[in-house]
Amino acid sequence: MSTVPVIAIDGPSGSGKGTVSRRVAEALGYHLLDSGALYRLVALAGEEAGLDPDDRDGHAALARSLAAVFTFDEQGNERILLEGNDVTGPVRSERAGAAASRVAAWPSVRQALLERQRAYRRLPGLVADGRDMGSVVFTDAELKVFLTASSEERAHRRHKQLKEKGLSVNLAALSAEIDERDRRDASREVAPLVACEDAVTIDTTSLQVDSVVKKVLALARARIPAPRAEED
Ligand code: C5P
Repeated sequence: MSTVPVIAIDGPSGSGKGTVSRRVAEALGYHLLDSGALYRLVALAGEEAGLDPDDRDGHAALARSLAAVFTFDEQGNERILLEGNDVTGPVRSERAGAAASRVAAWPSVRQALLERQRAYRRLPGLVADGRDMGSVVFTDAELKVFLTASSEERAHRRHKQLKEKGLSVNLAALSAEIDERDRRDASREVAPLVACEDAVTIDTTSLQVDSVVKKVLALARARIPAPRAEED
């Protein structure tokens, strides 16, 4: 069993996972794994390489050799680089999300990303955000959280986020896309989106982000002993 603590935060898109994971990682000084971004990058790299969208082996090979860097610019905004090029905008697009959910259904792509994800487990600890963090990648996580929210609320949140980015998207179309992505993620044969038996489920529909973060931090503090101060 690893001595590096992991907090696995899984759930469907729009459940607040991304924001909550980032805030919890910041509060604890932990590393952060945004596993969804890896699937998005594989889909994007496939497009850039001109792969046939159904080429499973080609996408798995790209997943094994993905040259991705997650960083922040001087203003503190996240920057995602692929082969040295800034692809933050395209990675966060709805298109990349939908494309990611297609490649993520393939076992060879999931397998190719497994060790890369596990390599994020470094001291002092890791917050891992995704769909199968607790069920597959970090089955021995000290804390597993499953965030949910009604599908209407999730579509509203995503709509607001996109509007803030200056993108205009039709709410009904967005809602249909989210439902389709959920259906695909929940029904795939490998690592479907499910709450593990040992996960704590938090319904965030009527909760503010702050209170979800507080709940997760309280659970983490109860389960993960604070590191002992160095003895001199
Ligand atoms: O979380 P995000 O929206 O970035 O994820 C994009 C897609 O990647 C999801 O819809 C899902 O299909 C896939 N994914 C996954 N397993 C993960 C993280 C994301 O299958 N651990």
